Amino acid sequence: MKLILLGPPGAGKGTQAQQLAKNRNLIQLSTGEMLRAAVKAGSEIGLKAKALMDKGELVSDDVVVGIIAERIEKPDCKNGFILDGFPRTLQQAAALDTMLASKGDRMDAVIELKVDYNRLVERIVGRYACANCGEGYHDRFKRPKVRGVCDVCGSTDFTRRADDNAETVTTRMMAYYRETSPLIGYYFCKGNLHAVDGMAPIEEVAVAIADILAKLP
Ligand code: AP5
Ligand code: MG
Repeated sequence: MKLILLGPPGAGKGTQAQQLAKNRNLIQLSTGEMLRAAVKAGSEIGLKAKALMDKGELVSDDVVVGIIAERIEKPDCKNGFILDGFPRTLQQAAALDTMLASKGDRMDAVIELKVDYNRLVERIVGRYACANCGEGYHDRFKRPKVRGVCDVCGSTDFTRRADDNAETVTTRMMAYYRETSPLIGYYFCKGNLHAVDGMAPIEEVAVAIADILAKLP
């Protein structure tokens, strides 16, 4: 199965992608995570991307399309993948279609997480993740079962993203409105867009997505 999770910063793409990947043996492909790994590694792509990401602006289409094109060819993607944060522009969407069409393939579904924009800053500034395994948490909405200990790997080391601050969030939201929201119309016209209420509790969003996937041909 090949899915796209679509939504603005803080909509819950990463949270839902992590759960889906675990439950359905799919690979989570987050361009944000891949770029952060490149920044950490100090690679050429990472150095270029860092300044843009810190400001909340989009990295160039060429760079992210190149990353995804290479990644989906790896054997672990054979069983399917979830795109989290890609595509983010009409150019990226067209490039993805071309990539898949060349193999006679297409995305099975695009899930739009519908959210109340006024609540996204709260979600983003309260977010943190396990520094060891990457499991995502929130100060209010998703706390570890044991305070200060990761539910998944038991690590006590957590991190917060450099771009998770109120100033950068505004630029990220603008980039979403300008560049990414047209994809909703794009996928609607292709007939594979499905919307869920992203403001429901995390588990309810997961159930709504599972219901959609169960009905796919
Ligand atoms: P990226 O890492 O993709 O960031 P983003 O799109 O801004 O999205 P977020 O990761 O902030 O939100 P999310 O939807 O994953 O929310 P989450 O599940 O964590 O991209 C970062 C940067 O990289 C971009 O700004 C750009 O520079 C660059 N980039 C990446 N991809 C690119 C591309 N394709 N093209 C160009 N540039 C690219 O949830 C947020 C918080 O809320 C969490 O703490 C979570 O626990 C909580 N939460 C989640 N769901 C719920 C719920 N239902 N109820 C209550 N709390 C919830
Ligand atoms: Mg994310």
